[in-house]
Amino acid sequence: MQNFNFHNPTSIIFGKGQMKQLDSQIPQNSKVLITYGGGSVIKNGVLDKVKTELAKSPREVIEFGGIEPNPKFETLMKAVEIARAEEVDFLLAVGGGSVMDGTKFIAIATVADEFKGEEEKILGFGFGPVPVKRALPLGTVVTMPATGSEMNMGAVVSRGEDKMPVMSPLTFPKFSILDPELTYTLPKIQVANGVVDTFVHTVEQYITYPAEGRFQDRTAEGILQTLIEIGKTTVDNPTDYDARANLVWCATMALNGLIGAGVPQDWSIHMIGHEITALFHVDHAQTLAVVTPAMWRMRREQKREKLLQYAERVWNIAEGSEDEKIDAAIARTEEFFHSLGIKTRLSDHSINEAGIERIIQNLEKHGMVKLSEHGDITPDVARKILQKAL
Ligand code: NZQ
Ligand code: ZN
Repeated sequence: MQNFNFHNPTSIIFGKGQMKQLDSQIPQNSKVLITYGGGSVIKNGVLDKVKTELAKSPREVIEFGGIEPNPKFETLMKAVEIARAEEVDFLLAVGGGSVMDGTKFIAIATVADEFKGEEEKILGFGFGPVPVKRALPLGTVVTMPATGSEMNMGAVVSRGEDKMPVMSPLTFPKFSILDPELTYTLPKIQVANGVVDTFVHTVEQYITYPAEGRFQDRTAEGILQTLIEIGKTTVDNPTDYDARANLVWCATMALNGLIGAGVPQDWSIHMIGHEITALFHVDHAQTLAVVTPAMWRMRREQKREKLLQYAERVWNIAEGSEDEKIDAAIARTEEFFHSLGIKTRLSDHSINEAGIERIIQNLEKHGMVKLSEHGDITPDVARKILQKAL
């Protein structure tokens, strides 16, 4: 097992009706900015519930709505202007990954004197921490299980055709309220997106090479098998509480640092996927469903031992040669994504050879030229992977 530091300061408040704990989580004398997306939380009443709870103490509350999926720098800067002018001292994100991520950016940009007037530079540090001394504290009320943003320090922010990671230990939420019932109003396709995103977060930290991380492997396998068990149920029966609760908890646990500590991590599926979203506006999870099978077909040698372990332990494939087992595991994964209504080909999203060249150019522009757990996915290798996904 590799050495690691593990620190996760986010309090998780999980379950039915847990919104009633919101008032006690935010200082009474604070000035709160509630952030939300395109309006689902207005329609389904979640925003009203949040405001009712916050009104139990004499705190000031203002709102900023309109954070779009794949949140845009320009939109977030409008919230930053408001937060500065109003001297807000606590941010409360009410929504999915886009709202939570956007709010992490707002938390940094509002008080980062180091970047005043050139906040776009906050997007320039990749997976390294943004060099700031402080950020506004934030909490979240989660309405979509997918990204794990509710319990990690990462965000992804878009600016034009650039979709950039923003990382800072200062942006771990102070708390996250995870009430599975708040997710019941999600459209089926967004629930399916959440299952696939969680699945791929797990395999990015599991299907690499063996590192004697037995707890991490068994935990990753547990998440994957849980998703396989409840994925279709929670898409088809949105109000099945236990199925949805398991998805919500898997989504959080897949990307809060636990299963990735002490083991190699890949993330090339995500980095290639982010370019597809930035250029062609395909939902985040759907880009992953396209890249994952092609990645494994192309990287069968580098990932052979873990692909075999995945075949045997996750899909219980016992028969056949090594290659047959790996092929069967990849086929089962694709069938699983299809069963949720998620497509697995670039052509399903009208992306052709010319589109692949644009993706490769963007990877080069963003310095994504040595991806994967081995650092050996060059733009040429990425092109071959994408050609397998056509
Ligand atoms: O905007 P509203 O009106 O709220 O509608 C949203 C949005 O259209 C809707 N929605 C959310 N909760 C709902 C609901 N509709 C009805 N009922 C509810 N309860 O769902 C749509 C998608 O929401 P979004 O937040 O965009 O989805 P998701 O949670 O998948 O977030 C995707 C973003 O997260 C980034 C992605 O790149 C993408 O920008 N990621 C963030 C990560 C992180 N912070 O660690 C890691 C991930 O790999 C990912 O890259
Ligand atoms: Zn993801």
